[in-house]
Amino acid sequence: MIYAVGIGPGDPDMMPHKTVLLLNKADVISGFDTVLKLAEKHFNPKATIVSMGYKDQSEKLEKVGELSRDGKTCVVCFMGDVNFSGYEYLERIHSSSQEPNPVIIPGISSAQMAASKTLTAFETSVFLTFHKRGDISKDKEFLVTALKQGKAAIVIPLPWDFMPAEICKYLIENGISGNTKIHVFEHLTWPEETSYSGTLAECDQKFSDVSIMVISTESDNN
Ligand SMILES: C[S@@+](CC[C@H](N)C(=O)[O-])C[C@H]1O[C@@H](n2cnc3c(N)ncnc32)[C@H](O)[C@@H]1O
Repeated sequence: MIYAVGIGPGDPDMMPHKTVLLLNKADVISGFDTVLKLAEKHFNPKATIVSMGYKDQSEKLEKVGELSRDGKTCVVCFMGDVNFSGYEYLERIHSSSQEPNPVIIPGISSAQMAASKTLTAFETSVFLTFHKRGDISKDKEFLVTALKQGKAAIVIPLPWDFMPAEICKYLIENGISGNTKIHVFEHLTWPEETSYSGTLAECDQKFSDVSIMVISTESDNN
């Protein structure tokens, strides 16, 4: 059995109890090194840890698949929630682990944290990730259209090609007011969490690859 679990935004205490119980008793715990570090407080000390990086993820997930077919309870850890910007990794569980139906346990997404910080209601917003392989031009156009329709947007940037400063520049070039308010949160719930608030026109800072952006429906007209 393979469980695909969202470990939440970083603070290990912001994890569903069901996921904590699973990590307490799992035979195999797997995921990217950076993600595993955030959740290790809850790991079964006897678990086999299969950690991976971008380059060896296919072979490591093949190994997880083999262990699962040997009858082991395997948990693959995702950052945040599995269902936001997580399906490319989920696809690798299908293809490399050869598990078409992992059990998914959602987690608290960085998007939920960013929404809570900015009082951004989901029903008035769009969620978008640029953190993916391939062409992002349709996503860029969708963002402009959604903002022009009065929606807020919760956006995961693309390291390092389409980061907040580039997103702001693109939006202004495509007719969104430079006075539109934005927030950028880095490392939400981590000890080193930081935040930035400003307008599209003002934002030219560099941010880390662990950042998420909220583009507001409000303008700063001062
Ligand atoms: C592949 S996406 C996965 C998103 C994740 N599934 C979620 O629900 O938050 C990874 C990106 O999400 C953003 N992210 C994840 N956790 C974050 C956090 N604690 N603070 C800010 N951004 C975060 C960063 O941009 C990071 O590079």
